[in-house]
Amino acid sequence: MNEQEKETLILGIETSCDETAASVVANGCEIRSNVVASQIESHKRFGGVVPEIASRHHVEQITLVIEEAMKEADVTWADLDGIAVTQGPGLVGALLVGVHAAKALAFAHQLPLIPVHHIAGHIYANRLISEMKFPLLALIVSGGHTELIYMKEHGHYMVIGETRDDAAGEAYDKVARTLDLPYPGGPQMDRLAQEGSDILDFPRAWLEEGSFDFSFSGLKSAVINTLHNAAQRGEHYAPEDVAASFQASVVDVLVEKTRQAARTYRVNQVLLAGGVAANSGLREALNHMCQDEGIPCIVPPLKLCTDNAAMIAAAGTIGFIKGHRAGLALNANPGLSLEGFNTL
Ligand code: KG4
Ligand code: ZN
Repeated sequence: MNEQEKETLILGIETSCDETAASVVANGCEIRSNVVASQIESHKRFGGVVPEIASRHHVEQITLVIEEAMKEADVTWADLDGIAVTQGPGLVGALLVGVHAAKALAFAHQLPLIPVHHIAGHIYANRLISEMKFPLLALIVSGGHTELIYMKEHGHYMVIGETRDDAAGEAYDKVARTLDLPYPGGPQMDRLAQEGSDILDFPRAWLEEGSFDFSFSGLKSAVINTLHNAAQRGEHYAPEDVAASFQASVVDVLVEKTRQAARTYRVNQVLLAGGVAANSGLREALNHMCQDEGIPCIVPPLKLCTDNAAMIAAAGTIGFIKGHRAGLALNANPGLSLEGFNTL
């Protein structure tokens, strides 16, 4: 293979929350390896992610996970073009483990270091499935984020809507806890919702006319109050119906706001991303809406929706091509801004 045909091989590293992950991706779209060590079992008994425990697990796992990703991809350090790492947002102690590992490896092997925004990673999970067509609209729904992002080209992000309080995944997890479901509650709620009916008529927060922002704390409180009031009266709602009614409310707002934004910004594609993108009700409703509107829609497979490093390598490839580099002074940034990455 001559130099012109040489593929771009990037190692991605992700440790922003409770998954230690490493992956090798070729040309920003072909997965050569995708290793994820999940800590869910360790956090389950606490009902949520415990930052200290997360950091310790990352330290234990990171070297093994990276070695495994390199071995599975059958590449050497000399084959790589760069190392991409999640710089933020996320838990600072967790992010630091990935950032330090990436810096040490970049230094030892004299490779470029590419900082990646976690949400850009979630968006670029879609490029592992299909070509991205601009301008596009990405709906990001995860444990920490609910955002509508407009992209006019690769590596350029405009946040046109975001949550004013709880993220969708956070609301899922909190309501699930009230229903005594194990952590993480999102997948459990999704499963229950499929067996119930939307009979409880929970509120939908549309906010002001023309706003693409979201708010889920009112809905979360409405569900929790309904359950507590019922318990005080000695009544009981079927958890399946609570889950189905909650999910209908969340999905309605997410999909309708995406429809309005897609019309306003006249996009050529809608992408779904983030952990809550694994939700069956949301996937179905978003696909229907896009068919209605005649806009192509990409919904990644479940294992690319939750945190992984292939998405970080995919986004990092764009950063690499655009000349985005970090020095060895790179620090984790738990409050990193996505639009700050636009100065490429
Ligand atoms: O993107 P992610 O893996 O981590 C963050 O960056 O936050 O998202 C995790 C979130 C959790 O809140 C989890 O409950 C939610 O995604 N989730 C789901 C489903 N699968 C994961 N929520 C609803 N339905 C699902 N099927
Ligand atoms: Zn995430």
